[in-house]
Amino acid sequence: MKMKKMLIALLAIILTPSISFAGPKAEVLHWWTSGGEAKALKVLKDDFAAQGGTWLDMPVAGGGGDAAMQTLKTRIVSGDAPAAAQVKGPTIQEYDDQGVIKPYNIDAVAKAENWDKLVSKQVARHMKCNNFTQYCAAPVNIHRIDWFWANKKVLDSNGIKMPTTWKQFNAAADKLKAAGIIPFAHGGQPWQDATVFEAVALGIGGNAFYKRAFMDLDPTALGGSTMQKIFDQMRKLKSYTDPGSPGRDWNVATGMVMDGKAAFQIMGDWAKGEFSAKGLKPGVDYICSPTPSKKGYLYNVDSFIFYRVKGADKLEGQKLLASLIMGKNFQKVFNMYKGSIPARLDVSMADFDACAKKSNSDLNAASKAGGLLPSYAHGMALKGAQAGAITDVVTEHFNSNMSSKDATAKLVAAVKASQ
Ligand code: GAL
Repeated sequence: MKMKKMLIALLAIILTPSISFAGPKAEVLHWWTSGGEAKALKVLKDDFAAQGGTWLDMPVAGGGGDAAMQTLKTRIVSGDAPAAAQVKGPTIQEYDDQGVIKPYNIDAVAKAENWDKLVSKQVARHMKCNNFTQYCAAPVNIHRIDWFWANKKVLDSNGIKMPTTWKQFNAAADKLKAAGIIPFAHGGQPWQDATVFEAVALGIGGNAFYKRAFMDLDPTALGGSTMQKIFDQMRKLKSYTDPGSPGRDWNVATGMVMDGKAAFQIMGDWAKGEFSAKGLKPGVDYICSPTPSKKGYLYNVDSFIFYRVKGADKLEGQKLLASLIMGKNFQKVFNMYKGSIPARLDVSMADFDACAKKSNSDLNAASKAGGLLPSYAHGMALKGAQAGAITDVVTEHFNSNMSSKDATAKLVAAVKASQ
């Protein structure tokens, strides 16, 4: 009897490697390589490893993710999809249309964990495939785009208060320029031009205008006099940049504000991740304040999409990753580093800083006022080709002497051609 038991035990040991799997595994494609971004992502990597997961890192550097999205496209076309990739907005559903996500491996996790109750309807919709019925992506956060970041010492020593209108901003920038300070730290890359442009458009055009222009692609909004005023302000902003601006990375521009070389930057709140990573504090070292608008809020939800993959280890890896991403504590810790706020609605904001608290309360106010709007510049509002058509014109205008009138006409034509 004893002998028989020993034999069975021995057999189990011998057979185990062939019938079990090596543990959850996931190749993760992302573009979070700046100081703050990497620090935030490490929380997920560590959580995954702590649960026995093997993380294969596939970073593709480049703010805004343009380079990462190119690499991803190539991988998908060659039939070599990673288990998970940082993808957001309508691009998620575009990939579903290509048939590379189905059968929605993480939907069972989402159902078991009741994600529909954990995030807002608006966020949930972005995460769903199969005609918005099944989860195929998991949200990590909500970033706000329409922010000014300013060096407090520079403003104080020049007697400047945080502007609440574009007119005040221009007056402050003129004063700083005269004092020999770079008013506006800007990274001249198309996605950064677009980031600034949509914040300006929200302020000058208003919430309803933003929706008409960048969600409905209404030619009268794209081609009207309001759009010309928006391009006028873009031209002003250009005059406040320094000659080193073209091609500069966003985090280098944030560094200029940190060091007091420049006064302001317009950037999503991942910029706060950079300030935090350097130990700088809002209200003490820097100021965060929304760019002018009437209860507007441009949001950007970072998420990971899960492609169709084969192999028990990869399938389990996807499930584990999805579950960890939606973990309550993960959403808190990750977002404190990242500069964003949790996508989960039940995470207390008590331990977050003043900028995050403001983001959260402004989001709720904007939601009630019809001002909670998806960022076009960060791939939340439009399909890739349409967003790209707008950004091309914005960048061309910003980097030339094109008149606002010509830019507006070009915008209408470019959007039409992209549809
Ligand atoms: C955004 C992304 C952020 C941040 C930023 C700069 O599109 O949503 O998480 O990484 O790009 O890289």
